[in-house]
Amino acid sequence: MKRSFVVLGGSGDLTGRLLLRGLAELFEAGVLDEEVDVLAVSREEWDDQQYRDWARRRLAAHAPHVPEATRERVVGRLGHVRGDVTAAADLRRALDRVQDVPVVYLALPNTIFLPTLEALAEAGLPDGGIVAVEKPFGRDRADARELNRVLSRLAPEDAVFRIDHFLAKQTVLNVLGLRFANRLFEPVWNSAHVEQVEIVFDETLGLEGRAGYYDTAGALRDMLQNHLLQLLALVAMEPPLTVDAAGLAARKGDVLRAVRPPADMARDTVRARYTAGTVGERRLPDYAAEEGVDPGRETETYAEFTVTVDNWRWSGVPFRLRSGKALGADRREIVIRFKPVPHLAFTDENPEPDVLRLRLDPDGIALEVNLNGAGDPFDLERRVLDIDLPPAGLSAYGLLLREMLAGDAALSISDVEAEESWRIVAPVLAAWRAGEVPLEEYPAGSDGPLPDRHDQGT
Ligand code: BG6
Repeated sequence: MKRSFVVLGGSGDLTGRLLLRGLAELFEAGVLDEEVDVLAVSREEWDDQQYRDWARRRLAAHAPHVPEATRERVVGRLGHVRGDVTAAADLRRALDRVQDVPVVYLALPNTIFLPTLEALAEAGLPDGGIVAVEKPFGRDRADARELNRVLSRLAPEDAVFRIDHFLAKQTVLNVLGLRFANRLFEPVWNSAHVEQVEIVFDETLGLEGRAGYYDTAGALRDMLQNHLLQLLALVAMEPPLTVDAAGLAARKGDVLRAVRPPADMARDTVRARYTAGTVGERRLPDYAAEEGVDPGRETETYAEFTVTVDNWRWSGVPFRLRSGKALGADRREIVIRFKPVPHLAFTDENPEPDVLRLRLDPDGIALEVNLNGAGDPFDLERRVLDIDLPPAGLSAYGLLLREMLAGDAALSISDVEAEESWRIVAPVLAAWRAGEVPLEEYPAGSDGPLPDRHDQGT
């Protein structure tokens, strides 16, 4: 089926940095061509030409890897409608301007998802239309339910894309291949053999001028509630019958339902924010002094929690999720720590148990094992079987847009998953709000709060 794109929030940061780039990659890959309509809706007083000029500059800045001639082909397909995305009449005007069945993409702040979806329901989404909604999907479980209710009136579940671009990252998809296309891993992928799972997304990036959004979200809502819980779901889920939208949604939904929120908030959760410091060459101020930040909100730039998965496979295994901004090094990985061998035949040695690391951006897989040494054959040595994966052809957004065009929702979050993810983080948010867990501090450029805790087994 031929499709058009209607991007609500077409002059925003997400469109300028990621969506236009994804579209350009699809032109370069031959997935899209001069026939496609891409219509941006925003409040800017722009005509098509002015929008194209803006988009040309954004593409030059954020898609320099795509040849200029291809970027120009994208620019040539862009149009702009000035309008209020929460007004049904304005949306109707936009929908009337495109030729083919639309993908309507809400690249908007989540505070206006609900009125926008309601306006879209009133304007009427053409048959076969697709709706894509960015993250975070609401601010809590009640919000997510309400959004799901409106979405279910608008389109069938397989035409709704709740976006989580982590699902389109190469290593994330490789969790599926590694687990379910090999005999080797599944037999030990359970509490009999796994000691602990860590899901880490440490960033050197600071606020990057995103205070307007980030200061009302914080690390827990920005990263753990969606991206890291999706990684947990892929690591912990049961084998799907089929790797497609229905198969993945069923298994991810099941395992998220089995996640028990942190048992003891003071022990099992950490919240912190950065103070002034140097990250690489860059000097960052206190988070609380960054432009646009309200220090009274006590927004965390680092969040961590440990949960368990209450099912037969994972009973008792801690899953530790953490993510922070302005840290000393980028560290993005899923770490599976195995238990020690049941009987150690090497009397003088006490080797570290095996560790499997799935690295993200750049992607790679490393298995740390013990082998007989190259010197004395009875001495053990730690060796790493390590492969770097070549960069993926499409960025995560490029891949998501391609799947939307194909009408395949396998890389989307289902309604159940979205609500379950809020169920898991709700008690943490409530405990933090009630002051049950102190807001710690860490200097920008450091390893984060409580370095001792991080040294344990990492
Ligand atoms: C986004 C978050 O969803 O993911 C950002 O809002 C974060 O705060 C980003 O930096 C990380 O993903 P990526 O793919 O840009 O590394």
